[in-house]
Amino acid sequence: MKSYIPGEIPVMEMMALLQGAIAPRPIALVSTIDMDGNPNLSPFSFFNIFGINPPILVFSPSRRGRDNTTKHTYENVKIIPEVVINLVNYEMVHQINLASAEFEKGVNEFIKAGFTQIKSDLVKPFRVKESPVQIECIVRQVIETGNEGGAGNLVICEGKKVHVSENILNSKGIIDQNKAGWIGRMGENYYCHAVGNSLFEVPKPLNRASIGIDSLPEEIRNSHVFTGNDLGLMGNMVEFPDAQTIHENQKDETCLLILKTEKDAVSRKEKLHLYAKELLKKGEIAKAISICISR
Ligand SMILES: Cc1cc2nc3c(=O)[nH]c(=O)nc-3n(C[C@H](O)[C@H](O)[C@H](O)COP(=O)(O)O)c2cc1C
Repeated sequence: MKSYIPGEIPVMEMMALLQGAIAPRPIALVSTIDMDGNPNLSPFSFFNIFGINPPILVFSPSRRGRDNTTKHTYENVKIIPEVVINLVNYEMVHQINLASAEFEKGVNEFIKAGFTQIKSDLVKPFRVKESPVQIECIVRQVIETGNEGGAGNLVICEGKKVHVSENILNSKGIIDQNKAGWIGRMGENYYCHAVGNSLFEVPKPLNRASIGIDSLPEEIRNSHVFTGNDLGLMGNMVEFPDAQTIHENQKDETCLLILKTEKDAVSRKEKLHLYAKELLKKGEIAKAISICISR
């Protein structure tokens, strides 16, 4: 492994390192206004949610690593502490990229990037009509984390009104991740698009304790067949299968066939573990564990 100490490598190198590692990042297309009422619109991927009640969103228009100048968005929120955070899907990517160009102060990026500005209900900055989720926010605090190039300016926002397009809602009124088509910012010039095969579900271990990987028998934990994900699935069971369940599961036809035909103990174990892996893929976790347990 290579290791790096901040300050011992150039800021731009540290930036590339961190932006390549902390990825994908969601993108806030942030609308602000300056003291003369001119709209400003810029994307920021140093962005996330940090609370729900109240809704807290933070983004960071940093000091430029190149020349230590500050961004118009940062300057605007220091004077008019209101923003609209517009979320970004694939259909918007080239326009948000364009909005990130360094236009002169006072230039309206809604116009430059071809977005439609619509009035907000509670705050002065405009919303982006093309964005499927627009959050009107007040700025609660701005925390400057340094004075040198690359330093962050954390703009801590409280969401006051959330607008969501019906086009991305499912029948339960929840945002359908397959319809949303969100994009994320990654290292270099890379983005990712959350659709199709790149989406997958992992049920949460909600309101309960799991047995943990340490509770699995040594022969499972030390198997070269199982990956960390396989062990994670098994360790996420609420309880270890009892003796009766194990006994019933071991009557499985494929399992019995392996036991009967495979005379060599090592390859017998390997075949059983490979079969258990298939069962894990089908969600038959108790059975997968059971067939790995020595008779
Ligand atoms: C997808 C994307 C994400 C970006 N994220 C950030 C960010 O998190 N912080 C930042 O300082 N600049 C970020 N930038 C660059 C700013 O958008 C750019 O500096 C812009 O000119 C700032 O505009 P302003 O001066 O009008 O605020 C990003 C650019 C793109 C295209």
